[in-house]
Amino acid sequence: MYRFLALILFFSFQAGRLFPQQNVHPQSTHYEWPTDPLVKQKLDKWQDQKFGMIIHWGLYAVPGMIESWALCSEDWIERDSTQSYDDFKKWYWGLSKGFNPVKFNPEQWAKAGKDAGMRYLVFTTKHHDGFCMFDTKQTDFSIAKGPFKNNPRADVAKYVFDAFRKQGFMIGAYFSKPDWHTEYYWWPKYATPDRNNNYDIRKHPWRWNQFKQYTYNQIGELMHNYGAVDLLWLDGGWVRPLETVNEEVRSWGAAIPAWSQDIDMPRIASMAREAQPGLLIVDRTVHGPYENYQTPEQKIPEKQLDHPWESCMTLGNAWGYVPNDQYKSASQVIHSLIEVVAKGGSLLLGVGPRADGTIPEQAVSRLEEIGKWTAVNSAAIYQTRSAPVYNDGNTWFTRSRDGKTKYALVCIKESSVLPLVIEWRGNVPAKGSKMVLIESGKAVKWTSVGNKVKLYLPANLVKRLKTAPALAFSFTAVE
Ligand code: GLC
Repeated sequence: MYRFLALILFFSFQAGRLFPQQNVHPQSTHYEWPTDPLVKQKLDKWQDQKFGMIIHWGLYAVPGMIESWALCSEDWIERDSTQSYDDFKKWYWGLSKGFNPVKFNPEQWAKAGKDAGMRYLVFTTKHHDGFCMFDTKQTDFSIAKGPFKNNPRADVAKYVFDAFRKQGFMIGAYFSKPDWHTEYYWWPKYATPDRNNNYDIRKHPWRWNQFKQYTYNQIGELMHNYGAVDLLWLDGGWVRPLETVNEEVRSWGAAIPAWSQDIDMPRIASMAREAQPGLLIVDRTVHGPYENYQTPEQKIPEKQLDHPWESCMTLGNAWGYVPNDQYKSASQVIHSLIEVVAKGGSLLLGVGPRADGTIPEQAVSRLEEIGKWTAVNSAAIYQTRSAPVYNDGNTWFTRSRDGKTKYALVCIKESSVLPLVIEWRGNVPAKGSKMVLIESGKAVKWTSVGNKVKLYLPANLVKRLKTAPALAFSFTAVE
């Protein structure tokens, strides 16, 4: 009996060494698979898309500052110390009078996204500042009521969604649950010391009910008046039922009020799904039936995950437009995309248009560069699923949906020349399998010893390409 146990232990240890980073498929205790067949179907479709664009566009684009957050009085937030908080708020709200995006060009955005190889969109219909980028009946604090109101495309969200739909994107509405502009969330009677609603909901249930209705109505407008929507991406995870506050929320370091900021998600979700059957709802960090996939932010999970997820990351340093932002290199983005996909997720990359309605040229050219790679290597990324052995060093693995084809994606260190020989461990090709370099469609020579695989790149290819962000290969693997 003990010898048997010792043998099992020995072999599992060896297997761990033979297959580095072999996925142990940790079952998430937090993820709840949807049961509605239409939602499941949409989730599966969404998992095929892999690469999306999140666009932060709102009042903050006017001065070119970080989105919304300066309105909030938490002590980590930097503001000009010569101006009082109240004056700052007045100034910020007043930005709505100068927001006139006369060059509003969602076709340019959609083309840039398409050229990059992106396949789904998430657009900020309303950020925490409460300024609406859609025509809402609930408030005048919107792009459709300011200086842009007489423009035929004043209902901005509609034209953004249309432009991306035309390029075949799945369509997502970002919507912030907290709203720092409505008096139902930040009651002007009291100070606004932090991100939370600023009154005790237990003492003022009427006001909170107004807020619930306000939120319900706005989401209702988005779900009914903007054509087919695939995704409702709800930000502001501190607006949640008190009993769902967990360690993760506490780790944000923000104040947690004694009352429940419950907006009745079941009611919102059933209305939204009645209008948009199969709608994916991403109630970020509020684990449960309305978090259809999880959304780690500005980071990639350490290991492969067995539930649907997406890393959202900025192309520059900020979510929205700020002047002279430093953009990540195409290589960096491609490497992240590869790692994310191999770990079973999708990459949602953040871009911020300027106040005039255009995306900065530098961002556009970065996206184009990314697209040069995704266009020729698409087979190894889109419509793939994760492979049990998903990584060895700089090499990441994916597989086709039917599991018959494996893909190896070898990340090349930025601006270094291509090697003549590539090696990895695990995912040994089946005897006689062709190893095809996807970008050329040509077979390359390979050998294997044990679980070590060696590829020999043709010298003329190395000479021609010199360098590349990554090389992708397809082959049939032994399980
Ligand atoms: C963070 C930011 C928020 C932004 C979001 C996008 O939560 O605080 O402003 O919209 O990331 O993922």
